[in-house]
Amino acid sequence: MTQDELKTLVGRAALDYVVAGEIVGVGTGSTVNKFIEALAAMKDRIPGAVSSSVASTERLQALGIRVFDANEVGELAVYIDGADEIDGRGYMVKGGGAALTREKIVAAQSRRFVCIADESKRVDVLGRFPLPVEVIPMATQRIVRQFRALGGTATVRLKDGKPLVTDNGQHILDVTGLAIREPLAFESEVNQWPGVVTVGVFAHQKASVCLLGTASGVQTIA
Ligand code: 5RP
Repeated sequence: MTQDELKTLVGRAALDYVVAGEIVGVGTGSTVNKFIEALAAMKDRIPGAVSSSVASTERLQALGIRVFDANEVGELAVYIDGADEIDGRGYMVKGGGAALTREKIVAAQSRRFVCIADESKRVDVLGRFPLPVEVIPMATQRIVRQFRALGGTATVRLKDGKPLVTDNGQHILDVTGLAIREPLAFESEVNQWPGVVTVGVFAHQKASVCLLGTASGVQTIA
């Protein structure tokens, strides 16, 4: 199976976790796009979704799925999202699509986080994928130096030759050279650096379940 087919497989499998009659939290990315396509088939059985990005909002609305503001609704039963890396404990690196801040917000508002990913995302130690960090632009160079002190190399993510601007009007640093062996402590530490909006380690908001697309089918890791 191709990577795209594996994404379709887990996108469809995630429908089993959507609770009829309840608003669903929806992440961002190419795997989630497969989920959104599948969700259209049951749109009449849910009131709608809370979305983690402008891009996902547009896709949901194009399929006739109502999108609620996170402040309009209470706790969500389930949040479905992809990952750039996931380890055996459900800790993840996210933010390859620059939507990490809103993803963490919707994840925190949800009782259950169902991660959908193809098997290339499974790692033993987080850090092979460049770690995305959303930052306030005036703090960028100090944060670059703080990562350098930890052995990481941080670069500003560009789009069309200019710093990419997130849905929240901020910038993204991508950090290479880290081996994140203690994701909970790492996330807590980096979150405290002034100017960091969100670090792309999802340890405090880890996956409750991971649906991993493999050549032999969907593997469920709980
Ligand atoms: C976006 C994300 C995505 O979930 C992550 O990048 C995985 O994306 P894809 O499913 O396209 O591989 O965190 O900010």
